[in-house]
Amino acid sequence: MPTYTLMATAAMGLEAVVANEVKNLGYECQTDNGRVIFQGDESAIARCNMWLRSADRVKIIVGEFKATTFDQLFEATKALPWEQYLPKEAEFPVQGKSVKSTLFSVSDCQAIVKKAIVERLRNKYRIQTWLQETGPLFKIEVSLLKDKATLTIDTSGAGLHRRGYRIAQGGAPLKETLAAALIQLTNWHPDRPFVDPFCGSGTIPIEAALIGQNIAPGFNREFVSEEWHWMGEEVWENARVEAEDVANYNQPLDITGSDIDHRMVDVAQKNAFEAGLADLIQFKQMNVKDFSTSKDYGVIVGNPPYGERLGDRPEVEQMYQEMGQALAGYDTWSVYMLTSHEGFEQFYGKQATKKRKLFNGFIRTDYYQYWGKRPPRQKD
Ligand SMILES: C[S@@+](CC[C@H](N)C(=O)[O-])C[C@H]1O[C@@H](n2cnc3c(N)ncnc32)[C@H](O)[C@@H]1O
Repeated sequence: MPTYTLMATAAMGLEAVVANEVKNLGYECQTDNGRVIFQGDESAIARCNMWLRSADRVKIIVGEFKATTFDQLFEATKALPWEQYLPKEAEFPVQGKSVKSTLFSVSDCQAIVKKAIVERLRNKYRIQTWLQETGPLFKIEVSLLKDKATLTIDTSGAGLHRRGYRIAQGGAPLKETLAAALIQLTNWHPDRPFVDPFCGSGTIPIEAALIGQNIAPGFNREFVSEEWHWMGEEVWENARVEAEDVANYNQPLDITGSDIDHRMVDVAQKNAFEAGLADLIQFKQMNVKDFSTSKDYGVIVGNPPYGERLGDRPEVEQMYQEMGQALAGYDTWSVYMLTSHEGFEQFYGKQATKKRKLFNGFIRTDYYQYWGKRPPRQKD
């Protein structure tokens, strides 16, 4: 099988989490702003789409080169082996972006790249007329950064956050990819209790259950590269068989999602049912200030309201305070909260063990981490 240069794209701040996932799948990688680069064959494309929990997409890097003129962009694009990827009937829309580059007109760059690929394919396939573009989809992107052009083909289709289980949602749902990253940034282990006291549509508990039973997040969806002749059906079949083989459906889990709004509890339950995980997660209506537990060494992960609108602030601040009081007595529990409210620690009543800057969409947030006592080591 040939080897491709692959790129898993990541939201700002999540590169290290995605890199870790890529390494766990067996691929050495380098990280850069918003991307993790590695080498792999067709099975790597299928496996990474199937398994990466926190990446946005998996793309093939077809070529990278310097371009400060449209001529350079055209010639270097035309010199790339597009026919190795695109059959003669391929549909290939070109998207673009340009940051700090001489070639700043994105629409012109897109048109030039499109023209260069058309010329290349017409030559290689000896086609005199227009290309029909009635076949499988290859979404191409030309991305210019400081005069370096990167040409990629998207292998995912819908973004990897589209796991296929979210049939209903609330006002401010977290992206599934970010939820998975938040969990992987904790010290949670599937044999410990897990609680999301602001579960909304259930994203965090559902992702925790997928992680807890080692279920591939892409198992129940399709990917655009499944339509590509050179990927081969057996590549996808093997990836799905592997996912089925390594899933640990016998792993018992203690995962709870709660929310003050009973309508959100219904929504979360529906989504968990759709994900096939309804039996694994307990959902209930509860105000966070009423949290209590007799268990030890649990992990709480939450995405509370941020109080972004001025009018909501006092209410949210009071709620942070009540949460801090409710959780204060549980020193074996670890608490992780994602919020954009810069005064969170003050209202919660405790300085975080660690803070990590993350973006929830375009909102700059901090992930406040309060580490609980470690469980005692088990004697042999
Ligand atoms: C930003 S949303 C969480 C979204 C969720 N992570 C998702 O993916 O859908 C915040 C949630 O906190 C809930 N909430 C607000 N105040 C609360 C409180 N005092 N106790 C528990 N839940 C509360 C809201 O009803 C809302 O569903």
